[in-house]
Amino acid sequence: MIVHLNGKLVPRDQALVSVFDRGFLFGDGLYEGLRAFDGRVVAMDLHVERLRQGLAECRIAWDAAEMAGLTDELLRANNLRDAFIYWQVTRGTPGPGQAVRGRVPAGPMMPTVMGFCYPTSGLAQNAAPAVKRAVISQDTRWLRGRVKSISLLGGVLAAIEAHEHGADDAILVRDGLVAEGTSSNVFVALEDGFGGTRIATPSLQSAPILAGVTRDLLLAADPAIEERSISVRELVEAREIMLTGTLSMVTSVVEIGGRPVGTGRPGPCAAGLLELLLRLIHGGR
Ligand code: PDD
Repeated sequence: MIVHLNGKLVPRDQALVSVFDRGFLFGDGLYEGLRAFDGRVVAMDLHVERLRQGLAECRIAWDAAEMAGLTDELLRANNLRDAFIYWQVTRGTPGPGQAVRGRVPAGPMMPTVMGFCYPTSGLAQNAAPAVKRAVISQDTRWLRGRVKSISLLGGVLAAIEAHEHGADDAILVRDGLVAEGTSSNVFVALEDGFGGTRIATPSLQSAPILAGVTRDLLLAADPAIEERSISVRELVEAREIMLTGTLSMVTSVVEIGGRPVGTGRPGPCAAGLLELLLRLIHGGR
């Protein structure tokens, strides 16, 4: 595996970072997860914009637009066309003589920029939604959910607890409202009161969640999907629950808290969302 580290492409065992890097000591950094199919990255513009906004909020000086060219270079260096690509930008490492534990950075620093990629399935292998069993977990993470922070301890613990309970993942809830998955956004299919189904996803105002790129693509493509607050009760009574994300695309949650969701099998809304996403990607999004 060839890794990008601070402008250089190096073998993975040579991709070494100081233990005083603020990403390591404080979780003081951001990341992006991208997906390439047949050598083309899905929605690179949206990933760049999200990283740009996060860097600005965190006052880390790096030009997020560089991620596009660096990604192509990294994919070529690893000889990959279907891949997951991870980028991490931390505030950097204090220089000799600079304080290493100050919350306020000792002075201007060169951000540490690191990227790697690994092979994933091609588009043709993603024709059906993946399936998961989930538990409901209280969202104990920080309130700046829009920032794609590398400090993932809250999500990590929720996922570990889900596994300890024999489930695959956790759906996080806060103040009685659905937030998101540990590494995905949540969509629910609800009865519309007229015998039909409508699809909804938590609005960015209803909970501190990530504006997922997959979520954004689906919302832009299907104006019928509602963005609003979703109660825990609506979640457990939903006909279908779906998780969306760059890596997992569309996953059908067939069990929530030990009880079947709807029929207990992936339903038409999960299939429909995945079909829409595949169409967008095929169409060059
Ligand atoms: N995670 N919410 C959270 C908390 C996430 O970590 C992710 C993605 C998403 C979905 O965002 P997107 O559609 O842009 O991938 C929502 C990435 C893939 C990860 O941690 O690897």
